[in-house]
Formats: sequence, structure tokens, C-alpha cells
Amino acid sequence: MAEIAQYRRPAIGTQPDYWCETYVSTHKRSPKQPLILLPQTLSEVTGPVFGHDDIQSGDADLTTQHAAAPLGERIVVSGRVMDDRCHPVPFTLIEIWQANAAGRYLHHNDQHDAPLDPNFTGCGRTLTDALGNYRFVTIKPGAYPWRNHHNAWRPAHIHFSLFGPAFATRLVTQMYFPGDPLLDFDPIYQSIPDVKSRQRLISHFDWDNTVPDTALGFRFDIVLRGRDATPMES
Ligand SMILES: [Fe+2]
Repeated sequence: MAEIAQYRRPAIGTQPDYWCETYVSTHKRSPKQPLILLPQTLSEVTGPVFGHDDIQSGDADLTTQHAAAPLGERIVVSGRVMDDRCHPVPFTLIEIWQANAAGRYLHHNDQHDAPLDPNFTGCGRTLTDALGNYRFVTIKPGAYPWRNHHNAWRPAHIHFSLFGPAFATRLVTQMYFPGDPLLDFDPIYQSIPDVKSRQRLISHFDWDNTVPDTALGFRFDIVLRGRDATPMES
């Protein structure tokens, strides 16, 4: 039987710790015993395949899913998905979800005293193209309070989910915005020990994809596994 190529393990400190003192939710859900490393078999190095049939037209534009435009600052979020050798990952599914411009999710668990927007659901999906590129149009999400500690506020962020070509490349993460003062105080962002790794979660302002008179652009490149991997959500 042919030998199965293994994915590299992430370098120490580049991914969030399972337990983080300042991120209270991790106290109960982090493993109490040392992890057991299992060899990667066919189950880990293969994965589900999604086709264009799974995507509806308009899924990548969160500003046109209702009768009218949502409130807030319209933005374009785009980038390239790469593997651990910096090769593009084509035709892979990306899903995003986010709060509205006021910092409120359309979800029954979100009881933040901020208005819902009848013209904004906050969910989108798309496939990367043949060169690994993707593009969403959405609105800039607002910061919102959470109950981790007194006066705790999450920096504005967009949740990302990627499947990649294998179960071992599955990535769930969060994209942040440059210059956000809340990043210095956010236990989730700060739970990634290595500073350069955590900075990979911050998008870059992107003139090239800014649409005149319409929307500012932000670039967020994503690396699935390897030395430069985008950190996983803790
Ligand atoms: Fe969130």
C-alpha cells in the first residue's frame, strides 16, 4: 500500500492553548490529560469535496440577501487560501458568520442590547477559485460585550470556517481588523502565545480591492496547516 503523506504538526506557540487563564470558557472545556498524538491515516488526509452546486448565487454577498441593504459600513473581504507549501487551495469551501454593524448576532443565544437588522443575516459561503482566491461582500461587524470578565468586549471580527482538502486541514478561525484597540485586551486573540502567529489573524487594508464610492477592501490570506498556518480558534 502506498505510504500516506503526513501533514506537518504546528510549531509550539503558534496555535492557541486549550487552557487560557484569562479566557474563562477554556477552564471547563480544555483537556485535563496530555493529548495522545495519533498517526494520520487515510481518514485524516482525505476529506469532503464541495462543488459549485452547493453554493447559491449571492451567497458570497451578505449585503444583497434581503429586500434592502443592511445598515453599516460596506466592505469587501478577499484573499487567497494556501497550503503549507504556499500552493493555492482551489475550489475549497469557505463559510463566514458575523455580528451586524451594531454588534448583534441573529441568534437566540445573543441577548446583547443592540438592534437586529432585518436586512442582515450575517452568514455567507463561497468556494475558492482555481487559484485559491475568494471574495465576500459584507458590512463591517460591530464590537460586542461578552461575559468573560468585567467590561469585556470582543474586537470586531468575522468567523471563518474552511474545510480544505482533508479533515486534517479543517480550520475554524476569526479575522480581525487592523488598528482595533480591543485586540490588546481580548483573551481569545491573546490566547495564541506567539505574537507573529496571532497577527496573522488581522486582515490588511486593501486599496486594490477597495471599490470606489462603494466599499473598503480588507485582505485576509489563509494558510491551512504548516509553519505559517492561520491559527485555529481556541
Ligand atoms: Fe463572534
